[in-house]
Amino acid sequence: MTGSLWLSLVLSLAIFAQFQVNAASNLVCFYDSEGFQRQGLAQFSMTDMELALQFCTHLIYGYAGVNADNFEMQSINKRLDLEQRHLAQVSSLKERYPHIKFLLSVGGDADLNDGNQYIKLLESGQQGHKRFIESARDIVRRYNFDGLDLALQLPRNKPRKVHGDVGSAWKSFKKFFTGDFIVDTESETHKGQLTSLIKDLKAALNQNDLLLSLTVLPNVNSSWYYDAPSIAPSLDIINLGTFDFLTPQRNPEEADFSAPMYETVGQNRLGHYNVNFQLEHWLLQRVPANKLHIGIATYGKSWKLSKDSGDSGMPVVTATQGPAPAGPQSKKEGSLNWAEICQLMPNPSNINARGPGAPVKRVIDPTKRYGSYAFRAADENGDHGLWISYEDPDSAASKAKYAKDRNLGGVALFDLTQDDFRGQCTNDRFPMLRAIKYRLL
Ligand SMILES: *[C@@H]1O[C@H](CO)[C@@H](O)[C@H](O)[C@H]1NC(C)=O
Repeated sequence: MTGSLWLSLVLSLAIFAQFQVNAASNLVCFYDSEGFQRQGLAQFSMTDMELALQFCTHLIYGYAGVNADNFEMQSINKRLDLEQRHLAQVSSLKERYPHIKFLLSVGGDADLNDGNQYIKLLESGQQGHKRFIESARDIVRRYNFDGLDLALQLPRNKPRKVHGDVGSAWKSFKKFFTGDFIVDTESETHKGQLTSLIKDLKAALNQNDLLLSLTVLPNVNSSWYYDAPSIAPSLDIINLGTFDFLTPQRNPEEADFSAPMYETVGQNRLGHYNVNFQLEHWLLQRVPANKLHIGIATYGKSWKLSKDSGDSGMPVVTATQGPAPAGPQSKKEGSLNWAEICQLMPNPSNINARGPGAPVKRVIDPTKRYGSYAFRAADENGDHGLWISYEDPDSAASKAKYAKDRNLGGVALFDLTQDDFRGQCTNDRFPMLRAIKYRLL
């Protein structure tokens, strides 16, 4: 064999080896510190965290915020983060888990102080950008994190009714063309400002060998805000918030799959409300697949069914009445964690129950294209109707397989504290996390 042939063989082997290492091996674990402060069975402890860490490649601590007056990054829960030293407590786990990258995330829909501070930050010019960048780098370094995650709270896609009579369809058609669906008329300008912020931020972080990750929050339209080809070289990781496409808060009057893999055909649904579309959007702009992570939620979305919603349960379900009541553990309207959903499935202790404790009927999607749902029709008084779109360990595993098949960087889990970390469902602690991990291996 000639030298050059050898060389090309060695080179292609090297490329192949690198490819093997990079593709779909990351499991980015989001940790919302709110979970640490929940009460009772939902309280997530540092012991739980350590059990989870053996499955994660990255741990992202949520969330810091942005000061609306001076654009500095700041703690939005000083009592927990600083006084109780939770930031330092979490990052100190690095000593025992040196292979895991610890990042601090800013935004994540947890920063509710102003509501518009992220757009103001973009518009704040060189001066404001500099203050954000320097303060962010300071905090990341002071608390010994390996990098920063930008989960910027930018304006959302307007929720659009997927159903409707001809009259309202015509109205939405008209709205669309008269610009009512444009939630940000300055989005092109904001996109340019964001590009320069990201580039400058990465340059600053690089001086200290710190990572920069981007998290696209659910329903933030990537076409409007992210100039993918320009920002990708500055980003080590990109997490796509590919869930919560439909929620009882955004779509109170109709229930549908909240995180389908593929476009669910028919019934006037929107083509971009699925994992595959969102991923393709980034891939089509030649963003390296090994930087991209699809997001998987550990919770389900729950709507209240009315008598008029019928009893077939088949989505799109109409005449729903907004968010279902909060679960006994997670205590958030319209949302249930996997442990709570699992306990609503028929079992010996609930099989004869009535009212809010009555079992739900589970409808699994054998194609794994749209997701599973469970429901309980409203009773004769119109009470206790419930419809849940949820992820379970099986469907989460199938999303992980998709990430692997497409040679992505991997998967991002939102978040650890809503997985069944006590093993209430099947005695398996962190069933969602485990199912994903085994599929990525
Ligand atoms: C952004 O919104 C437009 C208009 O609603 C839509 O056509 C497009 O697919 C969206 N982009 C993404 C990445 O979802």
